[in-house]
Amino acid sequence: MKNNQALADLSVQIALFDKQHAEIYDLLETLKRAINKGTPLTEMFYGIDMLIDKALFHFKSEEEPMLKFNYDGYQAHKKEHDELMERLTQKRTNLTTSFSVQELRLIIDEVQRWIIKHITEKDKYYTEFLHDQGMA
Ligand SMILES: [Fe+2]
Ligand SMILES: [Fe+2]
Repeated sequence: MKNNQALADLSVQIALFDKQHAEIYDLLETLKRAINKGTPLTEMFYGIDMLIDKALFHFKSEEEPMLKFNYDGYQAHKKEHDELMERLTQKRTNLTTSFSVQELRLIIDEVQRWIIKHITEKDKYYTEFLHDQGMA
């Protein structure tokens, strides 16, 4: 795992979610390196699609237990997930019509900032609740 310290500070104390966060973060770093290496477009799109899939799967993984156990912040939390996915898929479509490395860099930076902010301001607040429901 890269950026171990940054991610350790972001731990939500639930193993599955920490692992998924790390995978998403690693993928963003891999994408940045791929841009710098001048990786072919098809591979870049493959990476972006993987990012979208991983994010979607992770958001569902968090939302399921929140919904099942009636977490108070569920609606607001899901709304943040949905808004990011909407922006991300729109930007992915825009890249298909006119690809720009500069735009791709901006997207990756935005998602990276979003994740750090979201984990700090939203994810960390479900820890105690989900621990009480037996998640660890
Ligand atoms: Fe979340
Ligand atoms: Fe999360």
